[in-house]
Amino acid sequence: MAEKVRQLTDSSGQKIEFREGLEGVIAAASDICFIDGMKGILQYRGIPIEQLAEKSTFEETSYFLLFGHLPTRAQLSDFENRLKAQRGVAPELLRILADFPRHAEPMTLLRTAVSALGAYDANAENSGIDQNVDRAIDLIASFPTILAAIQRIRKGLPVIAPNHKLAHAANFLYMLSGEPPNEYSAKVLDVCLILHADHGFNASTFTARVCISSLSDMYSAITAALGSLKGPLHGGANSAVMHTLMEIGSADKVETYVKKKLAAKQKIMGFGHRVYHTYDPRARILNRYSHKLAEITGNMKWYEISKKMEEVMEKEVGGRGIYPNVDFYSASVYYYLGIEIDLFTPIFAVSRISGWAAQVLEQLRDNKLFRPECFYQGPLNIDYVPIDKR
Ligand code: CMC
Repeated sequence: MAEKVRQLTDSSGQKIEFREGLEGVIAAASDICFIDGMKGILQYRGIPIEQLAEKSTFEETSYFLLFGHLPTRAQLSDFENRLKAQRGVAPELLRILADFPRHAEPMTLLRTAVSALGAYDANAENSGIDQNVDRAIDLIASFPTILAAIQRIRKGLPVIAPNHKLAHAANFLYMLSGEPPNEYSAKVLDVCLILHADHGFNASTFTARVCISSLSDMYSAITAALGSLKGPLHGGANSAVMHTLMEIGSADKVETYVKKKLAAKQKIMGFGHRVYHTYDPRARILNRYSHKLAEITGNMKWYEISKKMEEVMEKEVGGRGIYPNVDFYSASVYYYLGIEIDLFTPIFAVSRISGWAAQVLEQLRDNKLFRPECFYQGPLNIDYVPIDKR
């Protein structure tokens, strides 16, 4: 995909160039995430995503993102215990969630809940780094509890308290269904959480950094990030992918569907990326888990449709650098795990909260207010017309 550089002429006749959507623009220096979009490389703080997915846990990866080094055994155990201790959410928050209409989207409710958390933190305006690290741990710990509560409340079911015997991902699945998950499902979700934890200056992370750059507070920055993640061009793509797979219905209908969409200049959800012009390394890992889950559940359908879409897209637009992104195979993975489609995007947030928090802390440590300029392209020096003369 070619970068879009727009050429404009200002009122004094001077030529000005700018990149639409800030494509290719470096907005700050960061130690958190390295991406090589041509080679398909992703590393958190220098460790390849493949190694983290295989060897780490979401808890350890979150520690690594927040504190900048892998924890010792004692540090990890202390961090895991802190996360467990902070899993609970205030009954007042559950009451607020219960008051919202049943049709409200889980992502809307999660965003609203995080905004409300700011009101319960009497010290929310204290922007010291230590206080924000504590808040970050609170938010990482409580996102799964809030989301599971949202799901249970809207289904008219009792909210399930966290189970401290279970690790982060397993406990989330337990709070959703009331049943401790099998080991493999918990492992798969844990890998998904690792894979989605950070991704440089994507739209939601950048939103969080812009918000905190005015020295606002952590809750505001995370609420803003949630609003950005919700859109279908970003985190909302994973649920859109599952709706596409369902609309297609079977692998033999893929070719016609994809070709028709492309001919109509419509986007195929789960493909393409601003930074990757090759296969997203996270999609490669999720592809394998989707295949394995298809075999385990004995339901190959969603994997087969996905695989066929990948083949047809490769033939049709692979030459233009449009490949599966992280949202493509995560859709079938979550579906095979028995998760409802409108929880897919908030689950992305349950993971990305650790990256957002690390990025907000990094911004605060060396802050510069984000304040770009726009190119004014409207008229100038127009006389005001009184209302009875318009
Ligand atoms: N299907 C068909 N054509 C596509 C697709 C797609 N998924 N993605 C990009 N293109 C085409 C697009 O039509 C455009 O063609 P043309 O130059 O002829 O107008 C060209 O590729 C460039 O696309 P763009 O939208 O201008 O590029 P961008 O860098 O602004 O967009 C993107 C990146 C992710 C918004 C886009 O690829 C897209 O809309 N994909 C579908 C939604 C999606 O899967 N989003 C998840 C992104 S990854 C994870 C995350 O951030 O949450």
